[in-house]
Amino acid sequence: MKILVINGPNINLLGIREKNIYGEADYPALLAYIENSAQEFGLEVECFQSNHEGDLVDAIQSAYGRVDAIVINPAAYTHTSIAILDALKAVALPAVEVHLSDIHQREEFRRLSYAGMACVKTYCGLGFAGYREALKYLAEHYSNRP
Ligand code: DQA
Repeated sequence: MKILVINGPNINLLGIREKNIYGEADYPALLAYIENSAQEFGLEVECFQSNHEGDLVDAIQSAYGRVDAIVINPAAYTHTSIAILDALKAVALPAVEVHLSDIHQREEFRRLSYAGMACVKTYCGLGFAGYREALKYLAEHYSNRP
């Protein structure tokens, strides 16, 4: 089973940005963590990060017919992007939403997730472990489906 893991704006600045919220570990460390988790569950992963909304839409579209599922942390676009929501609905692949921080315990504007409306599951507030949980969920629920 192949999974596309998509990260949105400023996730590339992990280890620099707001360490009190997102922790000390950097983006390469996240990539290594995701790769390890994928191996643990016998999955193949491809990781993509962009700071640009349209590039994230293109990445979601590129998943169609090519991968089996999506894990996505749209970062700030979570709360604004109907284009990302529509792209997820368009490709209609099982998608799991991940947020490093707990978006429900922060500012009011972070509570609304458009992307989440097209996702089968959301993990937030678990740090890196949210990505592992997302991969595990997809492996357990979707790996034997046509
Ligand atoms: C985030 C939460 C978003 O509200 C924020 O804009 C981010 C990261 C998270 O992983 O906790 O950039 O998606």
